Amino acid sequence: MSRLHLVLLFNITLGLSFQLLCDGKVMMEYIGATGIPVQFDDVPIETAIDFHFILSFAIDADSSGNTQNGIFSPYWATTLTPDAVAATKSRHPNVKALASLSGWSLADKTLSWYNPPDENLWISNAFSSLKTLVLNYHLDGIDVDYERFPKNSNDSFAYCIGELITLLKNQSLISVATIAPFHTTVDPYIELYERYEDVIDYVNYQFYTDKVKSPERYLEAFKNRTLQFGKEKVLPSYEVNGRGIQGDGFFEALRLIEDDGFDVNGAMIFSADASASDGFYFETKTQHFLLNNSTS
Ligand SMILES: *[C@@H]1O[C@H](CO)[C@@H](O)[C@H](O)[C@H]1NC(C)=O
Ligand SMILES: *[C@@H]1O[C@H](CO)[C@@H](O)[C@H](O)[C@H]1NC(C)=O
Ligand SMILES: *[C@@H]1O[C@H](CO)[C@@H](O)[C@H](O)[C@H]1NC(C)=O
Ligand SMILES: *[C@@H]1O[C@H](CO)[C@@H](O)[C@H](O)[C@H]1NC(C)=O
Repeated sequence: MSRLHLVLLFNITLGLSFQLLCDGKVMMEYIGATGIPVQFDDVPIETAIDFHFILSFAIDADSSGNTQNGIFSPYWATTLTPDAVAATKSRHPNVKALASLSGWSLADKTLSWYNPPDENLWISNAFSSLKTLVLNYHLDGIDVDYERFPKNSNDSFAYCIGELITLLKNQSLISVATIAPFHTTVDPYIELYERYEDVIDYVNYQFYTDKVKSPERYLEAFKNRTLQFGKEKVLPSYEVNGRGIQGDGFFEALRLIEDDGFDVNGAMIFSADASASDGFYFETKTQHFLLNNSTS
């Protein structure tokens, strides 16, 4: 075998083992929602975890909160520049960056899904504005985090968002798409999920909104949500300094979930902005938990 062949073989083997190592263990970390000058570099990243930064948020609105018919602009912390994303990804080949769509509010204005007057125009505007963001910011995917819906919501959410993800994936602009339902928004997300499951990779279900405080109740909530969204795609989640289960009870909950026969394929944490103050305790320990269980 020639030297070139050996080098090729070596690279293929390395690439393959990297894939195997990362297989199924994902970390989802929201970052940049509060406006504090948070940096990617502050966050601990284990090489064997498929680590996703979720930039919060890209919003279909101008700076006064007026909707722009599908034209998304970035409103995450200004420290998270295109160069910062590129630098983090080159330091850590296991890092991916996603833009999360919408979120709860922009400054004082609460955001909501709305039925676009022309759905196909909305999709086309969303596609081209997100294409620009994906290329500028070196993004790998989008997360869908609409948190309010009009009372007369027809199926425009499922259709517009499902077609948008399909198009972004079809044009190979993104490789990952996730959704972030919570307890009062499950219905429109179930509709989206049932119709477009094939293009949705993970469900960042916001368990902290289910108000479960004990590991046993957390397990129950987890089981309930996997019945709605599929057990391979639902990720357990934790809100730092937030609602729901707090402290090491979260890791007891993860253990109970595993003991119940689920594979804990990953976890979501909201958010890096809050974790800076506790030295990223939950990010570190969650990744260790996932790696401890990576042979299962
Ligand atoms: C949803 O409502 C909007 C605005 O009223 C309308 O243009 C659209 O066609 C409706 N979509 C469906 C799928 O009914
Ligand atoms: C994109 O869609 C076209 C037409 O349906 C299909 O032939 C092609 O395989 C798709 N490409 C990807 C990357 O999904
Ligand atoms: C799980 O679902 C059952 C059946 O609908 C319900 O009674 C229970 O309250 C749910 N538990 C949690 C923690 O969501
Ligand atoms: C990982 O496993 C070791 C050895 O079993 C254990 O001491 C440690 O607490 C575990 N860490 C986590 C985060 O589960």
